[in-house]
Amino acid sequence: MTDIIRMLGISGSLRAGSYNTALLRAATELLPEGMTLDIYNLAPIPLYNEDIRAQGDPASVQEFRTRIADADALVIATPEYNYSIPGVLKNAIDWASRPPTPPLPGKPVAIMGASPGGFGTVRSQMHLKYLCADLNMYPLNRPNVLVSHCQEKFDPAGRLVDEETSEMIRKMLVALAGWVRRLQTTPDE
Ligand SMILES: Cc1cc2nc3c(=O)[nH]c(=O)nc-3n(C[C@H](O)[C@H](O)[C@H](O)COP(=O)(O)O)c2cc1C
Repeated sequence: MTDIIRMLGISGSLRAGSYNTALLRAATELLPEGMTLDIYNLAPIPLYNEDIRAQGDPASVQEFRTRIADADALVIATPEYNYSIPGVLKNAIDWASRPPTPPLPGKPVAIMGASPGGFGTVRSQMHLKYLCADLNMYPLNRPNVLVSHCQEKFDPAGRLVDEETSEMIRKMLVALAGWVRRLQTTPDE
């Protein structure tokens, strides 16, 4: 068991002004002691193509898989696109899911999301949890971080200014630390 819990943050949005990436940036400032969070940029990952994979994973995919493998947990901030997760995120997950030695099975993951609408990405988060079942990942079920009306909760520079949301993220990170420790003491058979 490592003392420090090293997390990899993944945003499902490539947009410079993304609220979901901003949510991850906020999480880096709300970390409990003993946790680190690096944000990974999915932009260099190409569209999944089995022909490309047959020639060996592209360097960006290799790096992504290594960064997942090296992390004690993932924190995914997903937008909601048409009631589901964006293709960018699904595409990256598809690359990471392929053999040999896929890094996702057994990985604890916390999911959060921000949307300008009233539902705070609940539908895309449920879809992501559905994928986690197939991937044999271990999503944290509570507390939920569902950030609705997100345009009111960030300032123009993309800094989270809503204390209730900050508190939800803090609680989620503390719960994730407990979840990681629990899974580390009960490893897979
Ligand atoms: C293709 C597309 C589909 C969308 N579908 C939904 C949706 O189903 N539910 C929702 O709440 N917002 C939806 N939105 C709005 C996004 O929540 C909004 O663009 C959000 O800011 C995206 O996240 P980001 O700020 O991290 O880029 C959609 C946006 C796009 C571009």
